[in-house]
Amino acid sequence: IVLLACISVAVATPASEYSGRKRYDNYRLISVQPENEQQLKVLGDFQTKGYDSVFFDFWADPTLKRPAEFTVSPSQYEKVMQYLRDNNMTPTVEVDDIQMFENIAEFEAKVQPELFFNNIVDHSQYHRYDQISEYLTGFANNFGSIARKRSMSQTTYGRRTMDYLEISTNGFAGTRRAILIEAGIHAREWISPAAILYITDRLLASYTTDSEAAYMLNSFDWIIIPVTNPDGYEYSHTDDRYWRKNRHYRGGNCRGVDLNRNFDARWGTTGVSSSCSSDIYPGSAAMSEIEAQNVQDLVADIQNGGTRLIGYLAVHSYSQMILLPYSHTFGSRPPNYQNLDNYGISAGNALYNVHGRRFQVGTGPELLYAASGGSDDWAIMGGSVKYAYTYELRPATASAGGFVLPASQIVPSGEELFASFYNLAISLYNDS
Ligand code: ARG
Ligand code: ZN
Repeated sequence: IVLLACISVAVATPASEYSGRKRYDNYRLISVQPENEQQLKVLGDFQTKGYDSVFFDFWADPTLKRPAEFTVSPSQYEKVMQYLRDNNMTPTVEVDDIQMFENIAEFEAKVQPELFFNNIVDHSQYHRYDQISEYLTGFANNFGSIARKRSMSQTTYGRRTMDYLEISTNGFAGTRRAILIEAGIHAREWISPAAILYITDRLLASYTTDSEAAYMLNSFDWIIIPVTNPDGYEYSHTDDRYWRKNRHYRGGNCRGVDLNRNFDARWGTTGVSSSCSSDIYPGSAAMSEIEAQNVQDLVADIQNGGTRLIGYLAVHSYSQMILLPYSHTFGSRPPNYQNLDNYGISAGNALYNVHGRRFQVGTGPELLYAASGGSDDWAIMGGSVKYAYTYELRPATASAGGFVLPASQIVPSGEELFASFYNLAISLYNDS
């Protein structure tokens, strides 16, 4: 009876918000360094074509420069290790239970962090999409003379509105140069929307008291998209913490397109898989996806036939990098590459000076791998934007949690990113 009572108490305990989500108990993170072109090819096929009809989730793509990393379920583990060994590779287990990261992150104390501005957002935790959308309403209500909440032209496949914030201390005249921030295009990279909410909150709440916020807002109009993939973001909360793509259903087991492979920038040429269940499936055609079309329409709207939009800042995680265009092909560079690089290095130093985190600066193919269809490359090639950067936020490595960054790091991550954006704003303002 005592035992039964205990069980009933346990059952009556309110289910955690995450109870329906896929669990990753004993899923391992495998690390493997291909030593030559032939092994690189084996790993490349393993990623893009799958193995035994299973597709693997790569946290670091195969390159000769650094180990590839991918997750594997307990049931696939032995088979996969054997396959790699048969190809003369030496895979190692980098993390033996990736569920652990979520467990740690969930059980950490949720203490409201100290902020030097009167904030609207609770920066002690990650939020659901509806809450983020309500925060945008809050910004617009509290700072109505300089902030407007807007929705993009089309609703998503899951019928969500894609909400964004426009900030202008110039009466929304549409004449000032502008910078766009694109966060949350990859569902599982939660620190991206969270750090951008921090920055937005701080820009607005300290505009009248802080010289850096004042400089940023008086020099540029800002267009801020906190979640560019709302359907995927929600799915990563409710069903699968490691979901990356949107949720576009295309029949069979074809669910989701990698939005950062879908833009019209050498679409479908590098860093993609033609298999629709892969995590790097680029869609059926360039700009096939509603979310990418919305961004394209918004950029066209801001540009209005000109080049008012001078900066496009895409925010991802993880690996602590500032990526420069172009990333579609190794060695391909925009004409103003030298300035892009100089400003990027300066923005990286400003970031470092806040909490001592090193962010590497370089093009995607130099630091990671070539990948086509990215919004950063498209901003320059198709959006007539002069400066595009892709930030990969904290942490540096998979063993430090990868996509699951404890919520206690939202504020420090936001602080260093704010300093970096401020530095970039100075560079772009002074750019002729
Ligand atoms: N991790 C990002 C991605 O895979 C890097 C994007 C860099 N830019 C690019 N156009 N490939 O989407
Ligand atoms: Zn990403």
